[in-house]
Amino acid sequence: MTNAPLPRLAPGATIGMLGAGQLGRMTALAAAQLGYKTHVYAPDAAGSPAAQVCAAATVAGWDDLDALERFARSVDTVTLEWENVPVATVEHLRRFTTVNPGPNVLSVAQDRINEKSFVNALGIATAPWRPAASADDVARAVAEIGPRCVLKSTRMGYDGKGQARIGAGSDPAEAWATIGAPASDDAGGGTAGGIVEGFVTFACEVSVIVVRGGDGAMAAYPAVENRHKDGILDVTVAPAKIAPETATEAERVARRIAEALDLVGVLAVELFVTPEGGVLVNEMAPRPHNSGHWTMDACASSQFEQLVRAVCGLPLGSVERVADAEMVNLIGDDAARWPELMAEPGARLHLYGKAEARPGRKMGHVTRLFPRG
Ligand SMILES: Nc1ncnc2c1ncn2[C@@H]1O[C@H](COP(=O)(O)OP(=O)(O)O)[C@@H](O)[C@H]1O
Ligand SMILES: [Mg+2]
Repeated sequence: MTNAPLPRLAPGATIGMLGAGQLGRMTALAAAQLGYKTHVYAPDAAGSPAAQVCAAATVAGWDDLDALERFARSVDTVTLEWENVPVATVEHLRRFTTVNPGPNVLSVAQDRINEKSFVNALGIATAPWRPAASADDVARAVAEIGPRCVLKSTRMGYDGKGQARIGAGSDPAEAWATIGAPASDDAGGGTAGGIVEGFVTFACEVSVIVVRGGDGAMAAYPAVENRHKDGILDVTVAPAKIAPETATEAERVARRIAEALDLVGVLAVELFVTPEGGVLVNEMAPRPHNSGHWTMDACASSQFEQLVRAVCGLPLGSVERVADAEMVNLIGDDAARWPELMAEPGARLHLYGKAEARPGRKMGHVTRLFPRG
């Protein structure tokens, strides 16, 4: 199930980008470095982090078929920085141009039930889980899986949003009420409602970022450790300080998933490391990922450059790590520390051009490099 090789787009071509946040911005910067232009499309593109650095921006809805057609005809290929772009949008764009990653990948990644079913079907382990469409389903799942669980909305969750922890003695109905009525407002064909997962007492959390070209060539960055604060990624340590066998297994799993998805582009796989050194897949995102930002400063080619290379039919770049790294997110008011960070020798500061520092909002990040261990 391999795609026909993508036509090779020469520098000067224009990449269409669905989504206008910092991931789109950093992809556009990487594209510009290689001589490509980027045209961003999003309902909220006006003045966005991506639009500030793109050659063109279209501000229009995901269901605006005319605007989508004009956009598709004005670019040479399309990619995305947000996996929740409606599948119908991507199907429409595909009538006029190539879109990678494609609709099959999105329908898996947009929905936690589809995602876990896909991963388990490959023989890859996750936490135990059950679908839940009502408070009764939640109670039944908790009775089967064990008292400590996490209830998550199947769709649209990010940064720990749309989740409720369930412990011994907690009320499943209350948990069900907090994740809210299922939103099934898009044409993605996914499941609505919730998923109950067994709570994993992990030793640490890691992620692996894989890049895959249209010819099936693959490369993977080393597993990195991710520490979260209030459900939001706080620090990434690259590489993760885990047993070599655990790192190898995490990489094998990520490559296997990218291959099975027939992915063209970048895939981030988040995993839990168990106290015994095994891995369980938590979730995945078919786009550059916050836990891969360190690659901009510490690797021969960044995750963003790799996305450009993959979707333009170019050879993949080297994932060689020239330094170890620690990336710290700047969330909300953290970004006010910019004068101090600018003055710190060796600190690689990245700011996303967001005007308003709302609590919980990713404003930028800083990467510090260390000699390779
Ligand atoms: N089953 C689980 N057991 C233990 N911790 C979990 C579980 N699921 C999620 N978490 C914690 O919550 C964080 C966010 O959950 P995740 O599923 O990655 O959703 P998202 O990143 O989309 O908000 C995880 O990184 C992890 O720290
Ligand atoms: Mg996550």
